Amino acid sequence: MSTRNDDIIARMLHHRASTLDGGEPVPAPIAMASVYMLPGTIDVPHQYGRFSNPTWDALEESLSILEDAESVAFPSGMAAIASVFTAHLSAGDRVLLPSDGYWTTRAYAEKYIRPHGIEIDYCPTGEYGARDLSGFAMVYIETPSNPGLDICDIAEIAARAKSAGALVVVDNTTMTPLGQRPLDLGADIVLASDTKHVSGHSDVLSGHIASRNSALIGPIREWRKFFGAIPSPFDTWLVYRGLKTLDVRFDRMCATAETIANRLADHPKIAAIRFPGLETHPAHALARRQMTRFGSVLGLTFSDAATAERFIAESRFIVPATSFGGVHTSAERRARWGDQVAEGYVRLSIGCEPADALWSDFASVLNAL
Ligand SMILES: Cc1ncc(COP(=O)(O)O)c(C=O)c1O
Repeated sequence: MSTRNDDIIARMLHHRASTLDGGEPVPAPIAMASVYMLPGTIDVPHQYGRFSNPTWDALEESLSILEDAESVAFPSGMAAIASVFTAHLSAGDRVLLPSDGYWTTRAYAEKYIRPHGIEIDYCPTGEYGARDLSGFAMVYIETPSNPGLDICDIAEIAARAKSAGALVVVDNTTMTPLGQRPLDLGADIVLASDTKHVSGHSDVLSGHIASRNSALIGPIREWRKFFGAIPSPFDTWLVYRGLKTLDVRFDRMCATAETIANRLADHPKIAAIRFPGLETHPAHALARRQMTRFGSVLGLTFSDAATAERFIAESRFIVPATSFGGVHTSAERRARWGDQVAEGYVRLSIGCEPADALWSDFASVLNAL
């Protein structure tokens, strides 16, 4: 029987064709335009390139089907995050951020949000469940967190935060809407860096925001128009193109990640492994309930930094790079950026390579460490 995700994916793939007349291109064209014809009236679909663009429309229509919510595209995940803070926080508000989430979110909030009279509090992702949420204007969640892959219960936190009067925002970058659906679990706003899985080919930066509440998504769209943090038509088209294969890529990557995680779990050269799909993950039961897949990112702890670096350098099929969610397996030692993880902690992003090719590469490198 077809699942909700199956239906969403099929509708997303066929949406544009269902609107076309004979002779029109099946894929959306790239509309390189800063100005549009405005003879006499401005009451037309497109007026000026900072306000709207037909290629943005194509991507946003696809994202809106995927999220089952109105979506706004941004030129990066950080532009999306900045828009949420700027459009929905004001002087005197308090916001709760994860202390172990993507570090630039905290750095941005400290540098550009706090000076506007907004109080910022922090909580480790794994402790959100025990945190008193009263008094917050916004509760911001990132689960599984990057890089530590800690998990919190979106539905439980959203219910408590909303009854305390807070807006609930979820950064869903690590899972995509195909792996976890925060809006279905009660979040008000979901956002993501589409630089990762959604575009998927490590050739473009991108992000989006989605919400089912027009009073929340309207100011986000307006912020983009006034601030000018707009995606280029070509970059937008790359994301639109990548999105069509998200399901097959993500499915393959998550399945391979699970296979590799199970094989690595008992390896003597690895001191600890973090993966939501393993029973050793402290929130494995919650991951099973809340996520439809366990993701494609693993956390591996080696005895020290040098051993971790050797694992990355000597593996034939690991690209030594930051970021995750690309078709090539990649990895990096996150302590080099100052993340609060062990010196030997490696964030390993599994790509679309066949699982056995990856495993024989990893196994031979690990055995020689
Ligand atoms: C969880 C998370 N959110 C947001 C971002 C920011 O996205 P971008 O690099 O596209 O601005 C990242 C980037 O790594 C991320 O990992």
